[in-house]
Amino acid sequence: MEFFSEFKTLFIILHLVGLAIGFGGALVSDYLFFRFLKDLKLSKKELEVMDYLSKFVWIGLFLLIISGALIFLSNPTGYMESSKFLIKMFIVLMITLNGFFLHFYVKPRLKLIDWKAGLKDSHRGIRKIAFASGSVSVTSWALATVLGSLSSIPLIFLQSFVIYAMIILLAISVSQLMEYLFSKHIDAIT
Ligand code: HEM
Repeated sequence: MEFFSEFKTLFIILHLVGLAIGFGGALVSDYLFFRFLKDLKLSKKELEVMDYLSKFVWIGLFLLIISGALIFLSNPTGYMESSKFLIKMFIVLMITLNGFFLHFYVKPRLKLIDWKAGLKDSHRGIRKIAFASGSVSVTSWALATVLGSLSSIPLIFLQSFVIYAMIILLAISVSQLMEYLFSKHIDAIT
């Protein structure tokens, strides 16, 4: 434990590098996704860029988990008693599971979507799922970052869990509204 305390600053620096690569990669790929869609299609090259960026997100997350575990070992009992730490771990689990879902389910189906078809697209369900999953990702990354920066939270784990669930439901609802307005806009201009 002394070893982990001694090198805690180094592990925190590694943690922040992981944060920059992971969250940075997630934000840039969300931004590019919408930019690439301006011409209402995703070319092979654009899909390759998204694929390349997703590697940064996985590397960042991997670095965060390894460095986070090393920081954790400097005071395991203290962290296990912290509701802030526990809810952050739950959110990291959600980021990881949602990341697998985006990678293995959403990504291979993106090419099926006819972005020019608007509300009438026969693969609109996949488009809705892509928007929902993207919103879960970016919201969870932002919340994990905010929680990591706070010293503590005045809530027990269950309360913070309910708040997280409510924020996620709100984020998914907003993403579905955005998807609807986006599709309607396409119908209006085509
Ligand atoms: C999406 C993943 C994660 C994000 C965005 C994130 C973010 C952060 C941030 C911004 C900090 C503050 C660093 C500082 O002191 O300046 C932090 C601290 C910390 N993180 Fe993470 N982290 C993530 C994953 C993890 C994981 C997986 C673990 C454990 C296995 C972990 C354990 C810790 C610990 C123990 C601290 C120190 C908190 C303290 O002493 O108050 N983190 N994290």
